[in-house]
Amino acid sequence: MSATISALAAYVPERVVTNDDLARTIDTSDEWIRSHTGIRERRIAAPDQAASDLAIETARLVLAQRDLPADEVDLVVVASSSPDYANFPSVASIVQDRIGASRAGAFDLSAGCTGFVYALEVGRSFVEAGSVNRVLVIGSEVLTRITNWNDRNTCVLFGDGAGAALVERDAGHAVLHSWLQSKGSGDAALIRPAGGTRTPFDPQVHTLADMQIQMDGRRVYLFAVDALVQSVRTLCEREGISPEDVSWIVPHQANLRIIEAAAKRLGLPLDRFFTNLDRFANTSAASIPIAIDDMQQQGLLEEGQLILTVGFGAGLSYGGNLIRW
Ligand code: ACO
Repeated sequence: MSATISALAAYVPERVVTNDDLARTIDTSDEWIRSHTGIRERRIAAPDQAASDLAIETARLVLAQRDLPADEVDLVVVASSSPDYANFPSVASIVQDRIGASRAGAFDLSAGCTGFVYALEVGRSFVEAGSVNRVLVIGSEVLTRITNWNDRNTCVLFGDGAGAALVERDAGHAVLHSWLQSKGSGDAALIRPAGGTRTPFDPQVHTLADMQIQMDGRRVYLFAVDALVQSVRTLCEREGISPEDVSWIVPHQANLRIIEAAAKRLGLPLDRFFTNLDRFANTSAASIPIAIDDMQQQGLLEEGQLILTVGFGAGLSYGGNLIRW
């Protein structure tokens, strides 16, 4: 018996914002953003859309693919770094209620941009342990609402979106195994410093920027290249295969330069790595399911192929999943 992905879908908000649109209000240019990141445009959520709204759209798409009523879902797991509320209630509980998953448990998982990789392993483990039959695994982000739009070093990097997978027994693409890692010594490299119990928001001391994304770009870049290389090597070693045997590496869509550097170090052609960050930018925990959905739509995935996902991000966290499509 193995845990499988029986359906996978994504939802992105309608509004497209190009680099040129940003350059009208921010001291940046399409040329700088494209040459330093590979990003051309991103989606930005409507003012009334929070992480749960995007998650609900993608959850409904996934259930429709399987023609499955929501009350057949046993567990809803949402990975998000930009939840509706600070810590509680969880995005997952809101999704569970709004889609009518009346028998399901629900919780959120916080692992930065590695969130979907972690959540998929949670889904795999619950199903293989036999404690539940179906887990709805979702990555959903409205990062543009926790972005500092006065910080050109970060604000050009992010976009909004959601993706979901339904994990159940022997009904699709096998999740073979995962590798989950953390380097918490890098906690300050990617952080929202104020608003938690370490540094509660104090209006006398803090500004809004203290509650928004702050990043040491160089440090994150070096970490991310290492994380991507190590994750590919480790997952392949564990499966007894070489990276050349993998049909597609689906990395977290942070920055094309990270992916190019990792491809070079691994000695793999760049076209082995799927990218769509040019259209969606960095959607954190949603980027991997959005990428896989895009690959499905483009007809790039064939039965039996080995697909290797890799996430890396705040924590610092990293890791990947090996999937037999
Ligand atoms: N537009 C124009 N100029 C800019 C912009 C911008 N949007 N942002 C920075 N610059 C300027 C800087 O001010 C600097 O100018 P200066 O030399 O006059 O001081 C110059 O560009 C170069 O700045 P660097 O920080 O050295 O730029 P770098 O080439 O390192 O690229 C980047 C920055 C893209 C963030 C890089 O460090 C990187 O790829 N980091 C990885 C982090 C990442 O992708 N994070 C995504 C979120 S985290 C995650 O998902 C894992």
